[in-house]
Amino acid sequence: MKSIVLAVDPAPTVHRLLRALLAAEPVEFMAVSDGATAMQTIERHRVDLVLVALALPDMSGFDVCRRIRENPCTATVPVMILADAVSRVEKVRGLQLGATDFLGKPIDPFELLARIRAAIRSRQMQRELEQQNSMLYQLHEFSLRLNSMETAEDTMRAALICALSLTYSSRGCILVAPETVGGDRLRVASMEGVCGREASDLSIRIGEPVSGRVYARNGLRVVNDSQEDADARAADVAFLGGPPFVSCSIPGGTGPLGVLNIAGRLMDSPYSDQDVRILRCVAATAGVAIESQQRRLRIDRTRDAALLGLAGLAEWRDPETGSHLERLRVYARVLAEGLREMPKYAGTIDPAYLQALFRSVPMHDIGKVAIPDRVLLKPGRLTDAEFEIMKTHTEVGARVLRSMAERAGHDLFLDMAYDIALYHHEKYDGTGYPTGLAGEAIPLAARITAVADVYDALVTDRVYRKAWPHEKAVSHIRENAGLHFDPDLVAVFVERADVFLQLKQDPANAPAAGPAEAPVAMLA
Ligand SMILES: [Fe+2]
Ligand SMILES: [Fe+2]
Repeated sequence: MKSIVLAVDPAPTVHRLLRALLAAEPVEFMAVSDGATAMQTIERHRVDLVLVALALPDMSGFDVCRRIRENPCTATVPVMILADAVSRVEKVRGLQLGATDFLGKPIDPFELLARIRAAIRSRQMQRELEQQNSMLYQLHEFSLRLNSMETAEDTMRAALICALSLTYSSRGCILVAPETVGGDRLRVASMEGVCGREASDLSIRIGEPVSGRVYARNGLRVVNDSQEDADARAADVAFLGGPPFVSCSIPGGTGPLGVLNIAGRLMDSPYSDQDVRILRCVAATAGVAIESQQRRLRIDRTRDAALLGLAGLAEWRDPETGSHLERLRVYARVLAEGLREMPKYAGTIDPAYLQALFRSVPMHDIGKVAIPDRVLLKPGRLTDAEFEIMKTHTEVGARVLRSMAERAGHDLFLDMAYDIALYHHEKYDGTGYPTGLAGEAIPLAARITAVADVYDALVTDRVYRKAWPHEKAVSHIRENAGLHFDPDLVAVFVERADVFLQLKQDPANAPAAGPAEAPVAMLA
């Protein structure tokens, strides 16, 4: 891109002289006669150097200089003042206003040319510095954003957008090799700016051009030439509209995680070494983030499995309940998602809350491990004394979970599991146990669990009674709004009663994992 030099002088002879002087230079020359037009021109064009006469029809050259410096968009544009005779005081004033240089008239063409070249070179270096600063800032922002990414899908999209923005490209995609489909083909996991094509349109065998080879070699390939380079006709290059094109592997600790491809370069100009360095940097950062997400998810899954196993110990001794814990966590999530739509709960129930609820609900009855068989497995009604023993499962469970929280450090999940274990038998009207808490003093997660737990108990066969039909259970819960159950939750439950019926009849349809876990599995 050529540098733009603007001359501001009332004399057409000066315009002609400067135009002739700069004719052989790689610059675009513009000339105006007054200060107002000069300011408009500077605002509309990306001017790199202003040569301004001291005396103008509408303002002085100093005024032009001051206005340029006052505007943040033009503050760094070099301003050279051309003057017949400048006093020392005027020179100092001009420099104080931000003038870059002074040149006396009559103009010495050789000196002026040398000074213009120096000013333009300095301006170009300044622009490059600004550009690199902006890139560093964007890369820094990208790295910071990665910390809050929940899924590999989000991370890949952020990496793609960052890579496109930093390389002035408009189209891009990320390909990964999902283990689930045999692992010998790369498929599109994320794409941006690609029109008229579906992600499923592209599939590249590992080892084949261009992405498959880049992936296999954990390397990088630039295809700038559409005529001479045979790879220019490869399917993945065509998918992004042809060269210029770059494919860069996303490195992982034990091998590539995928491939980052970009194309649609501004003005179709070839990708430079700097673009390649930027792309490598973005891909490497994304790789670290994706691997860290995978590690975190593996730990989460292990923890979930261990905790579900622990919760299952109590269920194991009470085999009538079947897959109660699995059903319960899904019912609880349906209720929480419904509640989230009410403005009152929108600030409380976020994705982290939903995930913690899904994980902690199965802990609600872990205290039952301490209940003797004669009480826990008694086929008939419990006596008052036996019921008192049964009630203690809430406090036993809470004690276990509190000691876990104290060892692990309090977090949303363990604190919620504690609330649920202790308070899931409380009733909205204050007649529940163990503490007799009432209304919204009962933690929300425990109120949610109460509805889900009672519904599942009612529609499940017990030794002492047959399962109730779904409709009868719904009526029971509706009638107990404000008594046993939170009325808001009953409203959500009644509205979604069909979903409960469907989940009860076809539990296989219920998702088994937390909401943020599925997408990352693609890259595992
Ligand atoms: Fe319980
Ligand atoms: Fe239960």
